[in-house]
Amino acid sequence: MSQKIQSIKGMPDVFSPQIELWHFIETLSKKVFTQAGFSELRTPIVEDLGLFERGIGEATDIVEKEMYTLLDRNEKKLAMRPEGTASVVRAFIEHFASKGEMDKRFYYFGPMFRYERPQKGRFRQFYQFGAEIFGADEPTVDAELIQIIVQLLKELGVANYLLQVNSLGSASSREQYRTTLLQYLNKISDHLCDKCKERKDRNPLRVLDCKIPECQNYLQEAPVILDCLDEISKKHFDVFQNYLSIAGISYQLNPRLVRGLDYYEKTAFEFTSNQLGAQNAFAGGGRYNALVEQLGGPSVAAIGFAFGLERLSQLLEHLALPKNPVLLLVSLGSAASEHFFKQLPELRKKYQGQVLAELSEKGLKAKLKYANRIHADQVAMLGDDELQKGVVVLKNMQTSEQRELPLNNWMDNL
Ligand code: HAM
Repeated sequence: MSQKIQSIKGMPDVFSPQIELWHFIETLSKKVFTQAGFSELRTPIVEDLGLFERGIGEATDIVEKEMYTLLDRNEKKLAMRPEGTASVVRAFIEHFASKGEMDKRFYYFGPMFRYERPQKGRFRQFYQFGAEIFGADEPTVDAELIQIIVQLLKELGVANYLLQVNSLGSASSREQYRTTLLQYLNKISDHLCDKCKERKDRNPLRVLDCKIPECQNYLQEAPVILDCLDEISKKHFDVFQNYLSIAGISYQLNPRLVRGLDYYEKTAFEFTSNQLGAQNAFAGGGRYNALVEQLGGPSVAAIGFAFGLERLSQLLEHLALPKNPVLLLVSLGSAASEHFFKQLPELRKKYQGQVLAELSEKGLKAKLKYANRIHADQVAMLGDDELQKGVVVLKNMQTSEQRELPLNNWMDNL
């Protein structure tokens, strides 16, 4: 026997019944975001490596050690996208900002790639649904984005979650905070884990994210960014929170929420659920007003978010999705098989569910056994006798009741 080829670690196949749950989430997400003025933007999976290096930040885990990079045949450096925002910004600059169209709302959906250690809820290929709003710097827009996400979660039936919010201030207030935080981290450095020690000089804010209890203990007293906010960011954050309250949205202020990508400023947020285990964030986002300019476009404010489909669907595993009814056509004899075969396209068009056909030469008993195995709801039977009488026998598999319907229009009586 030849050696079996396995799927790549952390890159799972997705199939039924999970895929039906994904369809449900995708369809509802697209509906809710379309209703709020977003249109779909599909960007390529592969981009210029520089887009992510410049967009996400050189000192982030993603760029430093998680990217799938490759050289094309012309030695050009490419990367499989680790997230959607940088690509959407690139496309926004290329097709819209260049024509003076600054107010845009996009949503996107697709696979992302990060070379992380696979575990429950963490994959190397995973799917995100995300949305980005360009051309608005008002805090009401930040609150509106959260309101749309909350509406989506409600329509999906996700109730058990926590929304955490923070403000990362402006670039200058973050710079000031960085210095204050670094001074504190240097003081407690002996008590920090090796990863934090190594992180603190490159990206001190990320130290706050460490999950190790001993580090968290010493970080309790660390200065918080909210104390360093400039007046504009502070007002922005106040109005944002006020609008969340007006919308009746509960949230928790988490001054240690820093997010893993460098482009954020002002509002940052994350949705977590204690039903998810260690990888408990199922959605995250924030404002990134400097990124469009940083990637070569004009100065355009922007905010967005993305949820991870694997994690969100984990929260919905209990959901019993409505099952499509199944109609099975069972023929006996070649004339009946031919008759049913000709009717298939019309039947599939008319029937509100699945139409399957068992037109082989097997006997009736075997065919009905098959009907039970696939949980058919109805079986339409046709043999030489029925053809002569001009009828189809329709059997309800739940009640075993049988009806004879006229052969020429039986499909209108289902
Ligand atoms: P992120 O927090 O890195 O943000 O990812 C968003 C979501 O993707 C996470 O909350 C999580 O559900 C999911 N996710 C991330 N990594 C993995 C993984 N390895 N396996 C499974 N799921 C994962 C972003 O990517 C930003 N682009 C969001 C954004 C949009 N900010 C502004 N606009």
